[in-house]
Amino acid sequence: MSKTELKEEIRRLAREKNAVIMAHYYVDGEVQDLADFIGDSLALAQQAGKTDADIIVLCGVHFMGETAAILCPNKKVLVPDPAATCSLAESCPADAFGEFVAAHPDHIVVSYVNTTAATKAVTDVVVTSSNARQIVESLPKDAKIIFGPDQNLGNYINSITGRNMLLWNGACHVHARFSVEKILELKAAHPGAKVLVHPECKGPVVALADKVGSTAALLKFAIADESTEFIVATESGILHEMQKQAPQKTFIPAPPELSETGSTCACNECEYMKMVTLEKVYRCLRDEQPVVQVPKEIAAKAIKPIERMLELSK
Ligand code: 13P
Ligand code: SF4
Repeated sequence: MSKTELKEEIRRLAREKNAVIMAHYYVDGEVQDLADFIGDSLALAQQAGKTDADIIVLCGVHFMGETAAILCPNKKVLVPDPAATCSLAESCPADAFGEFVAAHPDHIVVSYVNTTAATKAVTDVVVTSSNARQIVESLPKDAKIIFGPDQNLGNYINSITGRNMLLWNGACHVHARFSVEKILELKAAHPGAKVLVHPECKGPVVALADKVGSTAALLKFAIADESTEFIVATESGILHEMQKQAPQKTFIPAPPELSETGSTCACNECEYMKMVTLEKVYRCLRDEQPVVQVPKEIAAKAIKPIERMLELSK
């Protein structure tokens, strides 16, 4: 099947099966273009919670599919590739995190949405990079808080809220690799460019930012801001929508540090997000599998902190 036929077939199957295709900004541009809805992690969860489709095809990484499945127990949630996980979610195994939580019984547990359902099951409230500040600030001033798994995001939220959350030592392998030196070189070459940074980046990279925010917040800023050039320190998939929404502006992907071998790699790409291809979207919709399965007892616990987040984000 040609690409055009593949896209037509996906749209036909989606209509026939009353399926909605949702995509995160980091998946391939051609998958984003095909989706009914694109968004950041918060918007995807919100959209899943209110769709009246019978099937949700979640084009993103596995925890995004799990969140949709937990919120929509009566719908079929499909993911094009179940092996598309997330290094950050993997850096926080539920048993180890559970032991950490148990060792601090007087702490409120705040978990980033980039976690498995089992880790969410030992959490009090979930956050995304869109609402982490707002939700942490809604907790009592003297509350003792555990934040996991992203240490960079946790440090950033501590710095802007004045809280002293106890942090789990996790990180995203893509965002942790952006290099201060490379961004400074780019700034010198493009003195008018504004620097857009996702809060999963390390502190010294965040310190260079004109805007720190979730993928949706960076996109919104890039569209509204008067500057015409932007250096973008997050996964490069977001450039597709930035360029589409602001075609007259220039978006420069921030390069990662050189790899150990000195080669320039595509390290500002999330290899998990890039596992979602048109062919896999087609196959999963045609065969109605793989279906995201979250064990009932885990889903029953994990839904509480997710719903708390959605309530606090209204
Ligand atoms: P957003 O919530 O900003 O979309 O981020 C998701 C993510 O995986 C960042 O690496
Ligand atoms: Fe996970 Fe990082 Fe990929 Fe985001 S970019 S999905 S945090 S591995």
